[in-house]
Amino acid sequence: MLPPVNSSHRRALDPINTPSRLLLGPGPSNAHPTVLEALSRTPIGHLDPLYVELMGEVQELLRYAWQTENRLTIPMSGTGSAAMEATLANTIEPGDTVLVAVIGYFGLRLADMAGRYRANVITIEKPWGEAFSLAELEQAVATHKPTILAMVHAETSTGVCQPMEGIGDLCRANDCLLLLDTVTSLGGVPLFLDAWKVDLAYSCSQKGLSCPPGLGPFTMGPRAEAKMMGRSGKVPNWYLDVTLLNQYWGSDRVYHHTAPVNMNFGMREALRLLADEGLESAWARHRSNAERLWAGLERLGLELHVPEHLRLPTLTTVRIPEGVDGKAFSLHLLNTHGIEMGGGLGALAGKVWRIGLMGYNSQPENVDRLLNLLERDLPAFRTGSAAAAPQPVAAL
Ligand SMILES: Cc1ncc(COP(=O)(O)O)c(C=O)c1O
Repeated sequence: MLPPVNSSHRRALDPINTPSRLLLGPGPSNAHPTVLEALSRTPIGHLDPLYVELMGEVQELLRYAWQTENRLTIPMSGTGSAAMEATLANTIEPGDTVLVAVIGYFGLRLADMAGRYRANVITIEKPWGEAFSLAELEQAVATHKPTILAMVHAETSTGVCQPMEGIGDLCRANDCLLLLDTVTSLGGVPLFLDAWKVDLAYSCSQKGLSCPPGLGPFTMGPRAEAKMMGRSGKVPNWYLDVTLLNQYWGSDRVYHHTAPVNMNFGMREALRLLADEGLESAWARHRSNAERLWAGLERLGLELHVPEHLRLPTLTTVRIPEGVDGKAFSLHLLNTHGIEMGGGLGALAGKVWRIGLMGYNSQPENVDRLLNLLERDLPAFRTGSAAAAPQPVAAL
């Protein structure tokens, strides 16, 4: 007889029982109810003609969300990092110079990945909470003459939105590809990939698109495609090889891997909801709820980390007040009220909270609920207060 399941994991035999949370952190955010319904549909085959039609619909809707006409626009099977890696794996050849303009944690991830594909990686970095000016980028491009300039549009670690004016023209004038991380901007912040002359971009399913994590939207324009097709060897990553994936997502519909069909059901519904609302309305909704949050936080005497003109509507960084145990307060919100708020990453660890208002969660009721709790409960977490002791983590 086989031994029973390890006794320390006895609860693994109980039916799953996860709590309902309000996810106001850096992502994932809550999925829209009709997206959850789409996810729970009976799977169909990944080569079923009906599924093949759905693939085309997802591509069309993604192009709309990104404002691009790129033929090679697909949801990568995997999270945002998979799509991030796909942009680099397909275009870098060993020795290519990749200039990464780092404004936070995810720029560093881009640099790490590019190095793994044997690029000559050069980073320039701003203090976390700032963005690059066009003049700074012009100087760096003139000095380093990169093949690819990689940057993050919406830096989730700092809450900064990188202004994009002129960067695409700069890249074209210097025969350089422009690669943009839009993980925390797609669906929530104005994005015009073609007008901005972005050659490569990626995103995720779990933030502005109101879908759970699992897919990484990817897009590649004609200049990047030419670079990929001109490479001297195979793309050094089989799973993310767009020349192979295109045979499935392009007209041939040749099997590459078994697509996560239900995730694509969810993605189709999420993108349909976005198109139904209209991009401009969705952007305006994110903006007005973020402004409501910023005004409320300032009313409470809390300090925002990023100057207003650079602030992301999807992610706000708030400085943890002197004398407050930021982690204990986040745990209190989670355990007592079922609300998730993020902590700082990298250079901002322990210094800020990160509040996400993304996709389905960008609603005034959510803003007011959080502000009310901050007003009522935060004073007890200041040094010397009896309630400042960390709370235990609730069991799922
Ligand atoms: C700006 C940015 N880039 C990339 C990623 C990586 O995406 P994922 O965690 O879905 O792999 C994240 C995740 O939060 C992000 O915020």
